[in-house]
Amino acid sequence: MMRACVESADAFSFKSDAIAGDKSISHRSAMFAVLAQGESRIENFLRAEDTLNTLKIVGQLGADIHDDGSVITITSNGIKESSEILDCGNSGTGMRLFCGLLSSAQGHFILTGDEYLKRRPMKRVTQPLRNIGAKLDGRADGDLAPLSIRGASLQAFNYESKIASAQVKSAMILAALRSDGVCTYYEPELSRDHTERMLKGMGAHIETQGLITKVWPLEKALKPLNIRVPADPSSAFFFAVAAAITPNASAVLEGVTLNVTRIEAFKVLERMGANITYDITDERYEPIGTITVKSAPLKAVVVEENISWLIDELPALSIAMACASGQSIIKNAEELRVKESDRIKTVVDNLNLCGITTEEYPDGYAVNGGTLRKACVNSYGDHRIAMSFLIAGLRCGMEVEDIECINTSFPNFFELLGQCTKVIR
Ligand code: S3P
Repeated sequence: MMRACVESADAFSFKSDAIAGDKSISHRSAMFAVLAQGESRIENFLRAEDTLNTLKIVGQLGADIHDDGSVITITSNGIKESSEILDCGNSGTGMRLFCGLLSSAQGHFILTGDEYLKRRPMKRVTQPLRNIGAKLDGRADGDLAPLSIRGASLQAFNYESKIASAQVKSAMILAALRSDGVCTYYEPELSRDHTERMLKGMGAHIETQGLITKVWPLEKALKPLNIRVPADPSSAFFFAVAAAITPNASAVLEGVTLNVTRIEAFKVLERMGANITYDITDERYEPIGTITVKSAPLKAVVVEENISWLIDELPALSIAMACASGQSIIKNAEELRVKESDRIKTVVDNLNLCGITTEEYPDGYAVNGGTLRKACVNSYGDHRIAMSFLIAGLRCGMEVEDIECINTSFPNFFELLGQCTKVIR
C-alpha cells in the first residue's frame, strides 16, 4: 500500500491549465460515441483509471478506437455482444450508465467492478430499468454487481426518481432513447446535466423544464461528438481549498467547466469568505473558463441545499470547514454514505484524528473549526478522501495511506501539488 507525506506550506501562487479532464464528461464522451453515426473526436479525455475502463469497455462493445496520444477518435457500428466481462473498476458512473445503454442492446453482457464498486447500490438503476422491460440481474436481487444484462425492448416511461442522481437520470435517458415512445423523467432536485447537453448537441430530441426531462426515442443515429473535455471542477476544487486555507496563497484554475450544476462548492467557499472570480473563456456544450481563488480568513457555513451540485466536493470542503472559525454543518447529504467510501464516516474519523471535533448525523455532520494537527490517515480506497487530507496537510503536514486510488480520477495530482509544497512518496 503506497503512502504520501506533505509538508505544511506558506504562501504560494498556483496556476494550472493541466487540471485533469472532467470525469463525468469523459465517461459520457466515450459512451455516447457508440450511439453516433461516423467518427467522434474527443480531445483532453481524462486518462485516469475510471474513464480508461469505460473507454476499454466501449472497445469491447465493438467500437473502433484510435488514440494518437492527444485526440481519441471513436467509430461505432452499433453495440456488439462481447465475449469478455466488462470491468468498470471503481466507477459507479461507468456501471450505472452502461446499465442504461446496454438494456436495449442486442446480446448478453456482464458488468463487474472492484471490491468497492461491488458493494455500492445498483437497484437505483436496475429497478426502474426492469420496470420498463429491461432484463437485468445481479446479487441481492439486482442491487449488487456483478450484473448481467440481456438486451430487451423497452417501454416508454414516466419515472419519478426519489433521489437527485445524474447517474440514474443518465441511465434512464439512455434507455429512453431506444424505448418505444416519449419518456418523462422527474428528479427532486436538478442534478448535473452533461448528458442532456451532450446528447442534445448530438441531435437527440430532449427537452428540459425545471426538474422534468422529456426524451423522444431516436429516429436515426446521432451526429458524432466533437468535444474538448474541460477541466474537472471537482479536481480543481482541491486546489481552490488549498489556496483558501493557506495565508497569502492563490490558485488560478484554467479551462474548467463553469456549468452551474458543478461549481456550487466554489460558491460555498465564497460564502465562507474566500475571494473567488469566474471568467468565461469558451462555450462548447457548456460554459468553460478560469476560476481564481485567493485566501482570506474563513468563517463557518451551513450547507443544506443544492447538495447534488457539490456532493463530490464535500470532503474537500470539510477541510476548509476545519480551518474556519465556528461550527459548519452539512445536512441532507445521506448520498455521501454510498459514494466510493461512506464519506460521512471517513471524513469525520479522519478529521478527528487531525484534532478537529465533529458531530455525525445520518445525513451529514458538523465540523468545529479549529487547529488541524498532523496525523496519519487512511483513504479507505477513496480518491477524494486521499486528496482532501493531502490538501489539509498544507496547514499542518500530513501522512496519507493508500493513495493509489488517486489514479481513478486525477493522475497528475501529485505533480500539481508539488507547485504548493514538498511531497514525499
Ligand atoms: C456523477 C454523478 C454523481 C457524482 C459522481 C459522478 C456522474 O453521482 O457523485 O461522482 O457523472 O453522473 P450521482 O448521480 O449518483 O449522485
